[in-house]
Amino acid sequence: MTTSDDVKDVKKAPAKDPWDLPDVSGLVVGVLGGTGDQGRGLAYRLAKAGQKVIIGSRAAERARTAAEELGLGIEGLDNAECARRSDIVIVAVPWDGHAKTLEALREELAGKLVVDCVNPLGFDKQGAYALKPEEGSAAQQAAALLPDSRVTAAFHHLSAVLLSDPEIEEIDTDVMVLGEKRADTDIVQALAGRIPGMRGVFAGRLRNAHQVESLVANLISVNRRHKAHAGLRVTDV
Ligand SMILES: NC(=O)c1ccc[n+]([C@@H]2O[C@H](COP(=O)([O-])OP(=O)(O)OC[C@H]3O[C@@H](n4cnc5c(N)ncnc54)[C@H](OP(=O)(O)O)[C@@H]3O)[C@@H](O)[C@H]2O)c1
Repeated sequence: MTTSDDVKDVKKAPAKDPWDLPDVSGLVVGVLGGTGDQGRGLAYRLAKAGQKVIIGSRAAERARTAAEELGLGIEGLDNAECARRSDIVIVAVPWDGHAKTLEALREELAGKLVVDCVNPLGFDKQGAYALKPEEGSAAQQAAALLPDSRVTAAFHHLSAVLLSDPEIEEIDTDVMVLGEKRADTDIVQALAGRIPGMRGVFAGRLRNAHQVESLVANLISVNRRHKAHAGLRVTDV
């Protein structure tokens, strides 16, 4: 005889281990604005970890030069071709060029997993401060402009200096990963976890991306006071 407890047992799927993440080693990662400090740093670390990486640029020639300098099998293409050829596309352009870049690539980015790492910041005599994008955050602006893409946000708190330093083997930091679909944030967490020392931690939906982007202004203050390249760790997980 089936009791109501048995039915409950059948219905209740076992809780998924948050560290049980997919194998992303076969996915191609593109980096829009990959000729810049952050894009180069991420491209270098991901390629070093064995990921196939394509650097994107507004000018294919600049991307090719950056890719040749980095080696590790990295390719350089214009942003549109980079988006077309990649499974995961990291957006690493300055906030000023964010909307225009994404609007122009809507078709190429359709169906792709987009990872936005853009921090909308202003700078004045008092230092860095968070801007307030109309959509709420850079990530929400990306989601609004790319209705056919799977938009996530991550990699905001990394130091491009540390990422690019070949003397540094491990990047001692957590990466907050935000997005609407668990399957997508799991992939981004797994991607972050490919880099030695780094961990991707799920940190909520895109409506909470503003705080994560803004926190970089605080990290810049820490860095200025300590002449450091501060990162973040989430404890007790
Ligand atoms: N630097 C860091 O430590 C760091 C850390 C975390 C997150 N981020 C975020 O990552 C993004 C890139 O930072 P970054 O320091 O690498 O910036 P960057 O060097 O100033 O720019 C990155 C690349 O974007 C392209 N670009 C420049 N202006 C553009 C525009 N108006 N429209 C489209 N593309 C443009 C350029 O490539 P081409 O000329 O070759 O197209 C440039 O090499 C920023 O949004 C930043 O908030 C940076």
